[in-house]
Amino acid sequence: MPALLASLHSDQASLVLECPPNAPPLWRHVGARLEPSGIPTLAETRTPASFSLDQDTPFSTAPAAGLGWFGPACLAARQEGRNLLVVFDQVGVQSEANRIAIHLSDPQTGIELHQTIDLLAGGAFRFGSRLTNTSSETLELEWLASAMIPLAASSAAIVSWHGRHNAELNEAVEPMPVHAWTREIRRGISGHGGAPGLIVLDAGANHHNGMANALQLAWSGNSRLSVERDDEGFWIVSVGAVLEPGEVKLAPGESFAAPEAFLAVSTHGRNGAMAQHHAAMRQRLVWPGGQMRPRPVHLNSWEACYFDHDEERIVALAEAAATIGAERFVLDDGWFKGRKDDAAGLGDWTADPIKYPRGLRPLADRICALGMEFGLWVEPEMINPDSDLYRAHPEWALHSPGRQPVTARNQLVLDLSRTEVRDYLYETLDALLRDIPISYLKWDHNRDLAPPGGHAQVLGTYELLARLRTAHPAVEIEGCAGGGGRSDAGLVPYVHRFWTSDNIDAVSRVPIQRGFQAFLPPEVMGAHVGASPSHATGRSQSLGFRAAVAMMGHFGLELDPRQLDPADSAELAEWIAFYKRWRNLLHQQSIWLGDGADGLLWQAAGTPQEFLLFAIQPGPARNRRPQPLRLPFVKAAGACTIELLRIGGGAKGHAAHRPPLYDGPYTYDGSWLAHAGLPLPPLKAESVAIFHGKAAA
Ligand code: DGJ
Repeated sequence: MPALLASLHSDQASLVLECPPNAPPLWRHVGARLEPSGIPTLAETRTPASFSLDQDTPFSTAPAAGLGWFGPACLAARQEGRNLLVVFDQVGVQSEANRIAIHLSDPQTGIELHQTIDLLAGGAFRFGSRLTNTSSETLELEWLASAMIPLAASSAAIVSWHGRHNAELNEAVEPMPVHAWTREIRRGISGHGGAPGLIVLDAGANHHNGMANALQLAWSGNSRLSVERDDEGFWIVSVGAVLEPGEVKLAPGESFAAPEAFLAVSTHGRNGAMAQHHAAMRQRLVWPGGQMRPRPVHLNSWEACYFDHDEERIVALAEAAATIGAERFVLDDGWFKGRKDDAAGLGDWTADPIKYPRGLRPLADRICALGMEFGLWVEPEMINPDSDLYRAHPEWALHSPGRQPVTARNQLVLDLSRTEVRDYLYETLDALLRDIPISYLKWDHNRDLAPPGGHAQVLGTYELLARLRTAHPAVEIEGCAGGGGRSDAGLVPYVHRFWTSDNIDAVSRVPIQRGFQAFLPPEVMGAHVGASPSHATGRSQSLGFRAAVAMMGHFGLELDPRQLDPADSAELAEWIAFYKRWRNLLHQQSIWLGDGADGLLWQAAGTPQEFLLFAIQPGPARNRRPQPLRLPFVKAAGACTIELLRIGGGAKGHAAHRPPLYDGPYTYDGSWLAHAGLPLPPLKAESVAIFHGKAAA
C-alpha cells in the first residue's frame, strides 16, 4: 500500500510528511519544491543501521523521549514527580492545500497534542502546537516545542544575533555544530539580540542565492533555540518558550498552547527568507482601520530634553518639529507624577503637578492644533518603589519573599499574571486615552526580569495590550525595551512600530537595521535622525548621512531642531519632504539587502519594476575607483532607468563628491545591473547614495 503523505508546497519549497497509521507523521522533506507526485516512501529509501533498536524510530513531528527516540524531544512532562514516557499511537492527520492538522494522543498518559502547519501567503510556514491533559491527574509541563524541523546534511552555517543595550543585533555566523548549538534567552524579554530566530544556510548560500531556512518564534519571553546534530548525519532545529519549573500545571481537561513559530524555506538565499518573514508579519500586524496608512514622520522628545520639560518647552519643541514637517509628536519619559529623574514615579500614570499643573490635555490640544498627532510614552509593566502605587501595593511587584527586591534603573516589575494588576493598568491607561487626544503610545520596558515572571508574565502583557487595542483600536503602539530589547513576532499583533535601538549613531545603525529586518519589515522599524555627536557613541556624523540611514525604516527625529545650524535645519526639512515623497515605495514592499566591494552595503526597497536603492559606504573606501554594484533582484526587469537622487553625507572636504557623470538618468538592462553592475559615484566614508530605479514596461 503506498504511504500516506501530507505535504505543503509553496513556489519555492515543499514540506513533506509521511503518515504511518499509529505514530506521529515522519519528516520526509523540508527544502526546495518537489513534484508532489514523485515522492518515494521512507521504506524505499531508508537504509538499515547497525546497533540500532529493532523498532525503527525516525524523526517525526512529535518525537518523544524514552522509548526509542534518542534525539531532542518535543515535550517533557511529569505526573506526581514521575517523568512521563509518551507514545502517541492514536493519530489523525488532515491535509488540505494550505494546512496540515495533526491530532496525536497517548491513551496511557492521557496527553493529547494538536499540531498545525499552515502555508501562509508569501510562502512562510506557521507552526502551532497545543497540548491537552485528558488524564484524571494534574500534569506538570516542563517543555513543549513550538516547532522541530530537520535541517539537511548540506547545511553549512548558522546565522544568529546577540546584543546589549545600545549595541543590538550583532550578527554571528557559525559553522554547523558537531554536537549542539543553543541560544537560550533567560532575561524574561526577548532581549537586545533581537527576535528569537536564526537562519541556517547551505554551503554557498548568500543574500541572493542558495538555500536559507529562517525560523523565528513569536514570543517575547524566555525561549530556547537549538540546533542538534542527529547521529544519522542531519540536524534538528527546535524552538520553544522556556517555562519556569512548576509554573505550568494542567488540571484534567486543561490545555497549554505553545507560541507560534514561523519558518521560511528559501531557495533565493537570505533575501528570499526575509521576504517570507515580512509577508508573514504583515499578515500578523493589526493596523487601525485594517490598513497601514503612510508612516508619519515623528519627533520623539527623549534625546531633545530627557526628563527636563514642561508645557511651554514641549510646545516650543513641537512647533519647531511641525515647521520642518514632522507629523507626530511623542512626549517621552518624564511627564508623570514625581518623575524628575529615573528614580521615581513609574506606576503613577497621572500628569506631574509641578511640570504639568494643567494636566496633559491642554498640551495635547496645542500639539494637535499644530496639525500633529500626539503620542505619549508609558512603561506600564514597571513600578518604582518610590511611587504611590508601590506604597499602596508593594505585593504587586514580582518579588521573592524574604529577599531584597532586585532593582534595575531603580525599578521593579509588576506581576502581570495578577488580574488586579492588569485591571489597574487597563483602567489607568484607558482613562488617559479617553481624557486626552492620544493617538500613539510608546510602550517601554526598561529592565530584565529578576525574579522571573515566567510564561504567565508574557501572556499577561499580551492580554493587557489586546484589551487596550480592542477598546482603542485607532491608537497605534510602539514597542520598546531600552531600545530594541523586545522586538519580536510575539508583540507584532499588538504594536505598529518597534524602537530599534537607543543607539542612533548612523554607522552603528546600519548593521542593527539589517539584523532587525531579517524578521521584521521596515515599516515597523523606528529609525530616527539623532543629534551629532551621537548621545550613545559620542561620534559625529553629517546630517545627510544620519537622515539617509533613517530613511530605510519608519523615519523620525530624536533631536531639538532649534539646535541645528540654519543649513542643517534646511537640509533636515528637505530630507523630511524627501521621505514623504518616497515612503510608499519604502514600506509594505519588498526589500533586498546585499554587499558591494570595499565595505559597501546596500539595501533596495520597492519592486523590481520600481525601487529606491541605498548604497551605503560606512567606512573609507580603499579602491581607486568604486566597483560596479550588482543588483540581482532586477535581473529580469528589462530596460531600467536609474537616477541618482541624492547623496547623504560626504558633502564637505576635498575629494570629488558628485561628478557630472552621475547627473543621469541612465538606462541599463536589468541583466547588466544584475551581472555587471551599476556604476557608482565615489563615496566618502559615512555616506549613502540613493538611486531611483524604474523599469520601462
Ligand atoms: C528607553 C527608551 O529606549 C528610550 O527611547 C526612552 O524612551 C527611555 N527609555 C525613557 O526612559
